[in-house]
Amino acid sequence: MIEVNNLSKTFTLHILGGKVIEGFGSVSFRVVPGEFLGLAGRSGSGKSSVLKCIYGTYLPTTGEVWFASDCHGKVNLAGGHEQKLLQIRNREMGYVSQFLRVIPRVAAVDVVVEPLLRLGENPSKARRRASALLERLAIPAKLHDAYPATFSGGEQQRINIARAVIWKPRLLLLDEPTASLDRGSQGIVIDLLRELKQKGTSMIGIFHDRASMEAIADRVLTFGNGSKTHEKAQ
Ligand SMILES: Nc1ncnc2c1ncn2[C@@H]1O[C@H](COP(=O)(O)OP(=O)(O)O)[C@@H](O)[C@H]1O
Ligand SMILES: [Mg+2]
Repeated sequence: MIEVNNLSKTFTLHILGGKVIEGFGSVSFRVVPGEFLGLAGRSGSGKSSVLKCIYGTYLPTTGEVWFASDCHGKVNLAGGHEQKLLQIRNREMGYVSQFLRVIPRVAAVDVVVEPLLRLGENPSKARRRASALLERLAIPAKLHDAYPATFSGGEQQRINIARAVIWKPRLLLLDEPTASLDRGSQGIVIDLLRELKQKGTSMIGIFHDRASMEAIADRVLTFGNGSKTHEKAQ
């Protein structure tokens, strides 16, 4: 599904007279369909930056990100193919960050349904699916038509997750998606992700807690002094 070769990222801070900061050193890995690769390591070791390089938010300093696209065949996501990248983001690759980027005055259910409408699904059917998913994520029905801007951090995070999983992307990038959830909600989210994985979605994810990581990751790549992989015993 995805093959990352010799990826690295350094940041040049022009505001500090061109000071260079290492995001992460050379990283290589592959993820096959339906596989979950976990990224672990101390804060600042470059985990989020790797996801951003794959999603195309950051341009890597070295390396390639080969994605086996349904629409375009093999594409190097770090190769400057803007048009293809945008299409892949709309149809094949999802990203869920720690925080919901709240759109003002859009109801929770509409935030969740938007990716399905973009893909041309029937609106009333899509809305029913979104409501059912929110229900499953323990967002009470009375909140479905409310604006997420006023929601708690944990509720916003669940809206964010619902929006990312509802359209079943082929590759899903997860950056600490359960950080502000209580144990019960964390369990629900892990179950949802497991189901998605069983249906063939590949995932690369960062979790703030070891238990969540162990519950879902097939393999864990630990960042730190020279990135090394640890195979998780299943
Ligand atoms: N946009 C940026 N500009 C400058 N430095 C950055 C930027 N993004 C990340 N960094 C730096 O790169 C390093 C890795 O950050 P990050 O990928 O967020 O680590 P992690 O997710 O493992 O905590 C940190 O030293 C961070 O300060
Ligand atoms: Mg991070």
